[in-house]
Amino acid sequence: MLDYHAKTMHSYLSVRTKSQGIDWDNQPKQFKIYPDIYRRITLEKENSHHRFFSLIGGITAQKSYPGVSYALRTNPSAGALYPSEVYVQIRGVEDFVDGIYHLSPSESALVLLCPLAHNEGVECSLHVNKIKGFIFLFSALYYRSSWKYKDRAFRYCLHDTGHMIGTLEASCLLVEKPYRIIYGGDKQRLNELLCFGRGELYLSSVIVGEEEGFTCKDFLIDIPPVDGTGTFEANALIEETYVQTSHPLGKKQMVIPYFDLEKEHFLKSIWQRRSIRELTQKSITQEAFDRIMHYITQPIPSDVDEEIQIYAVINRVVGMNQGVWENGSYVKMGDFTQKAGYLCLEQSLGSNSAVTFFLVGKSVQNYQPMMQKAGIIGHRLYLVSEYLGIGCSGIGAYYDAEVSDFLETKGMILYALAIGK
Ligand SMILES: Cc1cc2nc3c(=O)[nH]c(=O)nc-3n(C[C@H](O)[C@H](O)[C@H](O)COP(=O)(O)O)c2cc1C
Repeated sequence: MLDYHAKTMHSYLSVRTKSQGIDWDNQPKQFKIYPDIYRRITLEKENSHHRFFSLIGGITAQKSYPGVSYALRTNPSAGALYPSEVYVQIRGVEDFVDGIYHLSPSESALVLLCPLAHNEGVECSLHVNKIKGFIFLFSALYYRSSWKYKDRAFRYCLHDTGHMIGTLEASCLLVEKPYRIIYGGDKQRLNELLCFGRGELYLSSVIVGEEEGFTCKDFLIDIPPVDGTGTFEANALIEETYVQTSHPLGKKQMVIPYFDLEKEHFLKSIWQRRSIRELTQKSITQEAFDRIMHYITQPIPSDVDEEIQIYAVINRVVGMNQGVWENGSYVKMGDFTQKAGYLCLEQSLGSNSAVTFFLVGKSVQNYQPMMQKAGIIGHRLYLVSEYLGIGCSGIGAYYDAEVSDFLETKGMILYALAIGK
């Protein structure tokens, strides 16, 4: 097991004895905003080309409490803290200057950071051929999350990035464009090229375009680093783990996923997606469960594909026995509704669900791709559930070791999610 994962486990004792020490007066900013001197392209909702970008982490609702207001987005995020940032290199696309852009959800705009000459681009650092089209680049401003979740925040930064990639996958599905994820490449170089300040970590890229067969040279953006958090405290464990896990190596996945979904209804599901806050112990059908499993287990094209086992605690599925189900068969049978809730840090989401999922993986070297993949699977689960009229919530807080014992696995527990009504 990766040291970081072991050190950031929750247990019954740890959540009761570790001081949280949250500095409520110094909450980091939710948005990174580049100065006005950079040219903006405002994203119009009615423009289908612009909609492709708006669906990637765009704002879909506002939530207000006394003294605070949160923007909710197409992607879910642990604690609604949104550490992910998205950039995109655009080349050879009508109506766009070739360049590197920042996708700014608060302004609903693409901000042109740096125009590119024909032979310049991020491809060199990604170790891929020149691309005509889009290369999306994902980073995390980890303090937005570690401000609250301390060391465990790196897990959530990776999941959140996976969810953000999930929003891009959904956007690609609507316009019928294939995509592939690049987890490899020279991460330190990309941090420099994109002028990230300390605390912003480049994590992965997604190519939506065609290879042109030539290599590119690096470019230089002449911009000062922009502070995306306002307050910052370094976290040594997160920064060390980032470096330690920045050189993934694994097998490629070239197969493209297949989703049989009606587009208008799917688009509505993307806009409407929310985390369900309370489940009322209603059942779902086996047909819905089968459809969900088919959708979430579709291949995810990438340069490093790490296996993730999906355990489903079947609580309330008409036509299925209660028990723990994995890859088509039962690991054990019985009523584990209360146990599933207890394991999710006593959150009723886990016990009142139709199904509570636990995602399990083993890789130390490919920890970053594996955790992002867990986020992508999680995002698929949210969207297909919404599409079928079923609620869903990510659950990042669970008693790690007790979940492993319960599932009888030696793997790392990567993520939990609950679905139901
Ligand atoms: C990685 C991750 C972990 C989460 N963990 C929990 C959790 O333990 N309990 C919970 O109630 N919600 C959890 N959520 C849901 C978030 O609270 C929710 O996404 C956020 O408040 C934004 O709301 P929305 O999803 O409705 O847009 C999690 C979401 C993510 C992506």
